[in-house]
Amino acid sequence: MEEKKSNQNFYIESYGCQMNVSDSEIVTSILLKNGYFLSQDLKKANIILLNSCSIREKAELTIKKRLEQLEFLKKKKKIMFGIIGCFSKQMENFLIEEKKVDFIVNPNSYKEISNIIYHAKIGKRYLYAINRNETYENIKPFHINENKVTTFLSITRGCNNMCTFCIVPFTRGREKSSSPNSIIEKCKRLYKNGYKEVTLLGQNVDSYQWTENFNMKKNIDFSDLLNLIAKENPFLRIRFSTSNPHDMSDKVLKVISKNPNICKHIHLPVQSGSNKILKLMNRKYTREEYLILIKKIRTIIPECSISHDIMTGFCNEEESDHQETISLMNEVKYDYGYMFFYSPRPGTYAYKKLEDNVPINIKKKRLKEIINLQKNHSYLRMKKHLGNVEEILIEGKSKRNDQYWYGRNTQNIIVVFPKKSSKIGELVHVKIIKNTSATLIGLIC
Ligand code: SAH
Ligand code: F3S
Repeated sequence: MEEKKSNQNFYIESYGCQMNVSDSEIVTSILLKNGYFLSQDLKKANIILLNSCSIREKAELTIKKRLEQLEFLKKKKKIMFGIIGCFSKQMENFLIEEKKVDFIVNPNSYKEISNIIYHAKIGKRYLYAINRNETYENIKPFHINENKVTTFLSITRGCNNMCTFCIVPFTRGREKSSSPNSIIEKCKRLYKNGYKEVTLLGQNVDSYQWTENFNMKKNIDFSDLLNLIAKENPFLRIRFSTSNPHDMSDKVLKVISKNPNICKHIHLPVQSGSNKILKLMNRKYTREEYLILIKKIRTIIPECSISHDIMTGFCNEEESDHQETISLMNEVKYDYGYMFFYSPRPGTYAYKKLEDNVPINIKKKRLKEIINLQKNHSYLRMKKHLGNVEEILIEGKSKRNDQYWYGRNTQNIIVVFPKKSSKIGELVHVKIIKNTSATLIGLIC
């Protein structure tokens, strides 16, 4: 019962992580194949999709606010609103009960989106089984709104780790990996289409696992996959995110060190420097094991940058736990990091079983402290680049000065420099002459 979809323009907005950006490209590809049209202009669309994030309470509030902001569009013409991506059960109930949206789509069910929209249009709810094994490996993502130089590619979906604070295993389900062939083919196609860098995505890329069942059983883990991609695409820059410290193997580090086209940066969320808190979070590594891993990274890949995620104010976090986080940061001196204060997420173990007992003003005070500390560390790390000649992939115009390009070095640090005669997508050598705590400034050699 497929209806005619000419005049079905959809507009899509992504919130949250890189995985959502990548998912929006998958959804766009599916809708285009089903006869819908992509609109770059919100006001010209008759279907508005918000790709939602629910990792923190604030993220869900942002989506609610955005829906309110967009309500005025409904007054002018018949517009359908749909929420895709990650949302908590509470958010789902709110959206349905308050009739805030016309449909919602689970991240494992994007292939059903056309049917879901059609049924919503005739006022019916479409019932579908969620495909828990979905990897979308046979969907060619449609790259929207980007520089055509760098892009994302998901290699695993979902997560099995069950960190007690995290909603991802509930919104995205169990972990599943795409086949190595599909990933390698996609990388080759990207390079053929002019892309110079791909970031392999997963909640926990290091637990990538694929078993071939042909003549013999052969397991391909993340290190094998990285090596294969790097060797098959020697001119494509490769990045990956995120690594859970518990799953990062020496083999992966060796593969990174041996392949010049794998960028020398590891995002290694620690969350806390206190063993008591790590245990409550079910992070499956100790502070000591984490620090050993940091040492290994620095021995095997000396030029590697390391970034982090840290959360303040998790359940039962005392001042002494917070001080342990500070001392861990002082020991590692990360290049940069993402910092948050804990917010309980419905459905998680922490929400159900642990008391959210750190007052919000303390959570925020601790957060401010670690943000300031990180700023100092970032500045020190950035300073170490001064005088270096580094290889930069040009991604676009600098936001502050359109006579300057911006790009990134292998360590994933933004570098800005005067354009000269270079072009977007080129790899250039830049001498670093100045720095702030977040950016390097240089000159093309
Ligand atoms: N897979 C990644 C994390 C993905 S979520 C890992 O292995 O760590 C991104 C970050 O959001 C997390 O690292 C954590 O710091 C933060 N986060 C997750 N749940 C949160 C919550 N309930 N409150 C505050 N921050 C949270
Ligand atoms: Fe979340 Fe932990 Fe997985 S932070 S995404 S449950 S590794």
